[in-house]
Amino acid sequence: MKIEAVILAAGLGTRMESKLPKVLHLLGGRPLIAWTGAACQEATNRRPYVVIGPDAEKIRHVASAEVNFVEQVERLGTGHALLQVADQLRGKSNLVLVVNADLPLLRPESLRCLIEQQESNPGPFTLMSAISELSRGFGRVERDRDGLVVGIIEQAHATPEQLTISELNVGAYCYQADWLWDHLPKLPLSPKGEYYLTDLVAMAVAEGGEVSVSSVEDLDEIIGINTCEHLAQAEAALRRRINRGWMLAGVSMLDPESTYIGPEVQLGSDTVLLPNTHIEGRTIVGVSCRLGPNTVVRDSTIGDYCRVEVSVVEGAILEDEVDVGPFAHLRRGAYLGRGVHMGNFGEVKDSTLGPGVKMGHFSYVGDATIGEGANIGAGTVTCNYDGERKYKTEIGPGAFIGSDTMLVAPVRVGRGARTGAGAVVTRDVPDGSVAVGVPARVIRKVKKND
Ligand code: UD1
Ligand code: MG
Repeated sequence: MKIEAVILAAGLGTRMESKLPKVLHLLGGRPLIAWTGAACQEATNRRPYVVIGPDAEKIRHVASAEVNFVEQVERLGTGHALLQVADQLRGKSNLVLVVNADLPLLRPESLRCLIEQQESNPGPFTLMSAISELSRGFGRVERDRDGLVVGIIEQAHATPEQLTISELNVGAYCYQADWLWDHLPKLPLSPKGEYYLTDLVAMAVAEGGEVSVSSVEDLDEIIGINTCEHLAQAEAALRRRINRGWMLAGVSMLDPESTYIGPEVQLGSDTVLLPNTHIEGRTIVGVSCRLGPNTVVRDSTIGDYCRVEVSVVEGAILEDEVDVGPFAHLRRGAYLGRGVHMGNFGEVKDSTLGPGVKMGHFSYVGDATIGEGANIGAGTVTCNYDGERKYKTEIGPGAFIGSDTMLVAPVRVGRGARTGAGAVVTRDVPDGSVAVGVPARVIRKVKKND
């Protein structure tokens, strides 16, 4: 059967008390609309239509490639929002999946169950419901004595008795398309002056059509976002979902509640994550690593058997057996070869540290290439910027950079060369020689016992 999907995202989201449109608030680092969009896309294999408000330029900007946008100029309720796509979708499919944009944790599998249920329902549509004592303002599903659905009562209009109903309208529906496009324009105006999509239930029942229900068991899936508190609840639920998946794949966490793993992250087995570790963006971590505590890793690739403690790693690549921290900052373009040791208070940006390089104490390395096995003494700084341009530093394999050396780029320290403590190196130091002083001058060749 042909199906189209529609996401309703034009609401003002006033309960968020925020200048940002509700669907652009982030969950797991991704805007809410991207979550719902991906779930609909996966469930239907179609690019969903998204109904947005007239002032939603920012939303267009964020999600433009993956969805079709339709504008709802006046915000007259969920029924009215769906009506905005009627002209485009009428006659295009047999079924229409409709999902509220503020349900980011709905799984594609649950949407697929909803669709399958409607495929075998002779009645006009199926809605998704869940049983929960925590209503979060959801509409209640009203059934008659025989258990047939007869209506949805919005929380704002419910009597105290109706408020005790624990079956909730989740906000996802699958309609028989012709029936939907025929009945949608006939929705009555609610007491609040809006056209409620949920009033289609009473219309179907009045005609003798059966409204079927697909129920979702995992209550985390139905956390709808209406306030910032709901957003935090969804964040916690997403964290539980992601962390559970990784623990089942062999990743250990000392405290899953304080371990934050983004949805696109990949982790190897036997890796241990310590508390307050944030792994974000497109990060890949190998096997048997130990990350944290208090560590941020963003958009980076970390090999096997690495250790990163109390540090920030952004846009960096670490080969196997690299040891970082505490208090290190790896920035964009940092490449640490196999077995590099980088101790406390170091910063590396746009630089390659060859295998086995040791940089144990506070140092800044930017725009540099450091050869295998070199030793970078405490307080070494690559002076790579003259206020206008950046310049490169090259340090040869096996070089020994004395404590507090200033390397004024562009400059090269040769293979096996040494610099004295406090040297300010303004000219190249040849292979195998020793340079000292301010500005540094070459005094002799490296001796065997140097
Ligand atoms: C809606 C349902 C309620 C359900 C709940 C669960 C209605 C009338 N009520 O209530 O039964 O339990 O969702 O998620 O449908 N929107 C528009 N245009 C509008 C108004 C809303 O596009 O004019 C969009 C919003 O952006 C939102 C969605 O529709 O994504 C639902 O609107 P919202 O205001 O959140 O409705 P709820 O009060 O949550
Ligand atoms: Mg809502």
